[in-house]
Amino acid sequence: MEIELAISKDPVQIETDAVIVDIFEDSIDFTDTTMAADIALSNAISTLINDGEIKGKRDEVTVIHTLGKLPARRIVVVGLGKQKDISAEIVRRAAGNAFRKLRGLGVKSVHTTLLAVGDLGIEESAQAIVEGGLLGLYKFTRHFSKDTQNTLKKMTFTVTPPESPGKISDQGNNDYENLISKSISRGQIIADATSIARDMVNEPSNFMTPTHLADAAVQIASDHNLEVTILDKPDMENMGMGGILGVAAGSAEPPKMIIISYQGDPDNPDNNLGLLGKGITFDTGGISIKGAAGMGAMKGDMAGAAAVISAIKAIAQLRPNINVTAIAAATENMPGGSAQKPGDVLQTMGGKTVEVENTDAEGRLVLADALGYARQMGLNKIIDVATLTGAIEVALGDICTGAFTNNQLLLASVRQAGESTGEKIWELPMFDEYKQQNKSQVADVKNTGGRKAGSITAAQFLAEFSEDTPWVHLDIAGTSTCDRDQGYLVRGATGVPVRTLISLAQQLADKNSDA
Ligand code: BES
Ligand code: MN
Ligand code: ZN
Repeated sequence: MEIELAISKDPVQIETDAVIVDIFEDSIDFTDTTMAADIALSNAISTLINDGEIKGKRDEVTVIHTLGKLPARRIVVVGLGKQKDISAEIVRRAAGNAFRKLRGLGVKSVHTTLLAVGDLGIEESAQAIVEGGLLGLYKFTRHFSKDTQNTLKKMTFTVTPPESPGKISDQGNNDYENLISKSISRGQIIADATSIARDMVNEPSNFMTPTHLADAAVQIASDHNLEVTILDKPDMENMGMGGILGVAAGSAEPPKMIIISYQGDPDNPDNNLGLLGKGITFDTGGISIKGAAGMGAMKGDMAGAAAVISAIKAIAQLRPNINVTAIAAATENMPGGSAQKPGDVLQTMGGKTVEVENTDAEGRLVLADALGYARQMGLNKIIDVATLTGAIEVALGDICTGAFTNNQLLLASVRQAGESTGEKIWELPMFDEYKQQNKSQVADVKNTGGRKAGSITAAQFLAEFSEDTPWVHLDIAGTSTCDRDQGYLVRGATGVPVRTLISLAQQLADKNSDA
């Protein structure tokens, strides 16, 4: 996609396939651009409003052909809901809907006029349109034998010159173009990283093995000058990583522990953040095998790994002042002649022993070793991201990610990052009483806690391995995929929580520089 910035006094007079203008539900005052379009179209927009066909509601997209009255072939009126409720998230959603609709109509190039309303500045708005537009246009097409080219090829941001700059930062007019360009490229970097995560999750397991995942990570590291280490099976054996080795035992594909580091503050090694991801490239359940119905969805059981690898790529491009390490624990979970069996006991990296009551509770086993490795590395703030439990989908649906923590301060940062990106996060309790359910008769802990509060007992299991390091666990089993197109989400992988992780790194870095 080609993205361009154009300065024009009269954006509706541009020759293009479509010009996007916006409208609010509760405000009769049009923006200047919407007003200009309405006048040029002999009041077509006001007429549609009077007839009740345009209401200005969120997610509303109305395409009006200009029939020669304007150089643009179409004016596209996008509803933004109530003016007082405007946010970056609403703009992202609107952009996703509008661009996807226009692609469906065969439109090849789109001009969009920026808005700056209320608390939403023009920079934030520009970034939101790029993110929402690009993510809304996302498609996973690489396995179709026929060419499925994206027909919508050009997005132009048309802004009125600085005489009426709307609400921008304090900088002078000279920096106006510069500021918007920066927002656009920021949006592009973030949308690209999210799309890469979506690709990895949508990719079938025969194309996304632990080895493929490691290769992708090595490529990203070399593109962005990051340190990368891939631990192979013998390394894991030397380090006593019995958790991931136990899960990998039934598979013909070798497991990989993938470690990528970005040094954004090399003089202060303690200014660091660890992003850990569950990377089960296919989860059959192992000997505690799953049913056939819907098992194919388990190709996406590496969404946590995809998220942390993609996030560190964007972080490397945006260069916040903090050291970030991504660790992805990658293996298949297969039943096989050498597979681990219910009742087996494993010893994890830090020495703790685990009774494997159910081989389908494998995510927490690989994460136990990832947590051990992260702590040994000296990472002092850890976020783990995992499609860990079906129970979280029962509790929260596909609307929000479940969060668990041993440190409210770190969770507050994660929640703030989630709010700014529109990726919803909700905390679940970690009362000590739940630990009881993970007690084993033969080992330090067992990997299942029974039917009750399945997502919480899974988190309590992980808490045994994060120990006293500030840690947040994000269970994305419900949010890593979605079943219909909506706003900037497209059926299939969502890329959650890549944007939150990027925003978190930035936020922690900014806090650190303030101090
Ligand atoms: N990968 C699954 C969880 C999952 C379920 C992710 C649905 C995405 C959609 C995980 O490894 C698993 O199988 N969890 C078990 C745990 C149980 C055996 C304690 C579950 O949720 O049933
Ligand atoms: Mn499982
Ligand atoms: Zn799993």
